[in-house]
Parts: sequence; C-alpha cells; structure tokens
Amino acid sequence: MKLWSGRFDKNTDKLVDELNASITFDKRMYREDITGSMAHAAMLGAQGIIDPAEADRIISTLRDILADIQSGKLDFPLEVEDIHMGVEAELTRRIGDSGKRLHTARSRNDQVALDFRMWIKNAVIEIRGLLLSLMEALASIAKANTTSLMPSYTHLQRAQPSTFGHYMMAYANMLKRDVTRLEDCFDRMDELPLGSGALAATTYPIDRYAVARELGFERITDNSLDGVSDRDYAIELLSALSILMMHLSRFSEEIILWCSWEFKYIELDDAYSTGSSIMPQKKNPDIAELTRGKTGRVYGSLMGLLTVMKALPLAYNKDMQEDKEQVFDAVDNVKKILPVFTAMLLTMKVNTDNMRKAAENGFINATDCADYLVKRGLPFRDAYTIVGRLVNGCVASGKKLEELSIEELRELSPVFDTDIYSALDPDTCVKNRKVPGGPAPEEVERQIGIIESFIAERKA
Ligand code: ARG
Repeated sequence: MKLWSGRFDKNTDKLVDELNASITFDKRMYREDITGSMAHAAMLGAQGIIDPAEADRIISTLRDILADIQSGKLDFPLEVEDIHMGVEAELTRRIGDSGKRLHTARSRNDQVALDFRMWIKNAVIEIRGLLLSLMEALASIAKANTTSLMPSYTHLQRAQPSTFGHYMMAYANMLKRDVTRLEDCFDRMDELPLGSGALAATTYPIDRYAVARELGFERITDNSLDGVSDRDYAIELLSALSILMMHLSRFSEEIILWCSWEFKYIELDDAYSTGSSIMPQKKNPDIAELTRGKTGRVYGSLMGLLTVMKALPLAYNKDMQEDKEQVFDAVDNVKKILPVFTAMLLTMKVNTDNMRKAAENGFINATDCADYLVKRGLPFRDAYTIVGRLVNGCVASGKKLEELSIEELRELSPVFDTDIYSALDPDTCVKNRKVPGGPAPEEVERQIGIIESFIAERKA
C-alpha cells in the first residue's frame, strides 16, 4: 500500500507505477537520504518535537538499514516508488509507529532537494580530485619537455615556435579554471534546503542550523519556496562539466591528430590504444575519441536539464524528477574519463624529433625575422612586408629563411647582418619569448610552479 493511498479510492495503474517510480535510479542516493534522515530525527528529538528516545531508535535503525543496503542485504522494489519512501517504509516495517514519526516537519520536496545537493557536493569533490591528478600529470610532462621544440598553430597552420611543455601548460591552465569553477559552484550550493517543507516551511520549532551543521552545510537556504524549486546547483555542475569536457575534447582532437602518421608527435601506449577488426596495421586513439564523443553527451545532459526547468512554475513539479539521470550520467562519464585520460597522457611517448623537424619547417621563425628588422630600426609593418616577400621567394625556390644567403637577404633590406642566422634558430626564437606567459623554458618552469602550488594548496 502506498504511503499516500489514503486520499484515493483505487490503486494506480501498473503502467503509472512504472512511469512514476524513480527508485531504479534514485536509490543511488540512499546514503544521503539516510544520513539526512538521521540528522532530521536527531533535531526533532533535540527540539522536543518527537520523543528523544524515539529519535534515538529511529537513528539506530536507520544505521542498520544503511549497513544492510551497503552489504547488499536490502534492496528496494519498484513499489516503494522512490528512495525517500523506500527508506521510510523499511524503517516503519522495523520499528512501527516510531518510524512513522520521522517525516514530521518534512516533505519529500525538501528531502529530495537535500539528498541531491549532498550527492552533488560529493561528486564535485571527487571530480575535483581527479582533475588535480590530471593537472599534476600535465605539470610533470611539461617539466620533462620545456625544451622540446614544437610548432604552435593557428588555423592548424604552423605559426610560431613553442615547446611541448608550453603546450601542456596551456591545458593545465584550462583545467585550473575548471577546478575553480567547480569550487565556485560548490560554494553556492553549500546551503541546506531541509526545513523548506513542501514549500511553505513548517509550524514546528525546527532548528535548521543544527541540521546544517550536522550535515556539513555552510549555510541554510533563505526562502522555502526557492529551497524546493531550485535546481541551479545541478545546472551549474552540468555547465562546469560541459566546459571541462569541451577542454578535454579539444585536447583529444589534438591527441588524435598528433597520433596520426601525418604528425607522429606522440605515440600512445598499447594499453591505451585499440586495434581494428580488419586492418592489421591500425592503432587507434579510442580513448581520446570517446572523450570527444562523450562531450556531446554531457552537453546533452546540460541542455536536457535546462529544458526541463525552463517553464516550471514554483515550487516542486514532478518534471523535476528528470534531474537525476542527467546529472548521474554526466558525473559517471566524467569520472570514467578523467583517470583513463590521465593514464593515457602519462604513458604516451613524445616524439621530440618529429616535433623539432616540423618546427624547423613552415617558416615558424618568420615573425622572429621581422622582429629582427624591427629591433634594428624598421617599423613593424615594413619589416612584415619584407619578410612576406622573402617567404614568397622561399616558397618558390623550396628554401627555408635561414638557407638564404646574406646577399639574398640584403637584396630586400640592407639591415640584415650575419647575426640573423642565430636569430632565426628556432631554439633561440623560443628562448627569447621569455615574457610572462611565453614558451621560454625558464618561463614555462615558472608556469609549472604556479600550477604545482595550486595543486599543493588543495591537496594539503
Ligand atoms: N522522486 C521525487 C523526485 O525525484 C521525489 C520528490 C517527490 N515529491 C512530490 N511532491 N511528488 O523528484
């Protein structure tokens, strides 16, 4: 019999039960539901709203129920509808009338808001930890590659000289923003909604601050209507995860390119690659491709939940039950991807020779050539035009800039001297880019230091 059956003359249709029930997925919040109920019962007892002895009995029985779920002794059938009623029904089955007192001064609306916030807060902490490990991996790869010359690109055309270390630190900085974005949304969601009741709070003298303290919430929500209607915390999490996945997807795209024979800048370890069922030579970067693919799925969760919420009147509407699967799916996939992605990077082989060869072609020192002229008095625009002409000639003759004789160079500008050849050396070009943010080895060391202290502050 349903907890709410009193008002009804007949049972719900079986198909309605199947559609209505959320237990199949919200049972994942059993720990949050039970610890939330324990804190609520303790508060009811302390406030004299229920008999303290009964509160104790409720709490110890909830503890047993938690243990039984954890050991696999207890599962919930579809009939219980959702985790909240499942736990309450089991409690009442075990201790009778005392169990029936647990729901005093509470509604499933503030209960689900509480459970979901608690679940998401945990997920944020876990994902943040995985992200910090990925950043740590990037910092270590960068450290080993501060002098690994590599072309950087715009429009996927070789642009200017950089290093693989500089490149890795670009991604580390993107992930640093992801970490702080998660921290920001954690801080905003750190409010206890319990006590909002169904929507108009309660007449009982509850102590919301005590429950907040007990459950590790920094604050309490300030308005009961908002407390039960709000799903911003879930949407913010999905937004933060979507941006994170966008970063990982861009990284994946580069990894896929770098693995191709056209680049061969890196080679993924066999343990993190897959083969083809027909082409014996294939070694495919499936991890990176799956990351790129799952990005669409995480965006889908964000769009899904935004769309669910977009026209809902206050306060609770059953539409909101659709929030959990979106969040669970996104969190599961991000948590699955991050450790594999980290391991894939830590085990890849970096082909520094191939990167260097690529950096030595494609005129990536053309800007440095123009800068050479500027440092000897030419206005940048004129220098730019001269070097453009030189490149044009080189393309026709199949030469590199540094292969032009000093006479050939002087034909376009008398300012060229023999020190131009060292200025065009790509290692020099990198070394000279030592302003903050640049790819010069000692500057990248500084950038690594910043990321390392960022990680250390959070791991302490
Ligand atoms: N299973 C519901 C959910 O996930 C719990 C809240 C139900 N509240 C209600 N008024 N029907 O949203």
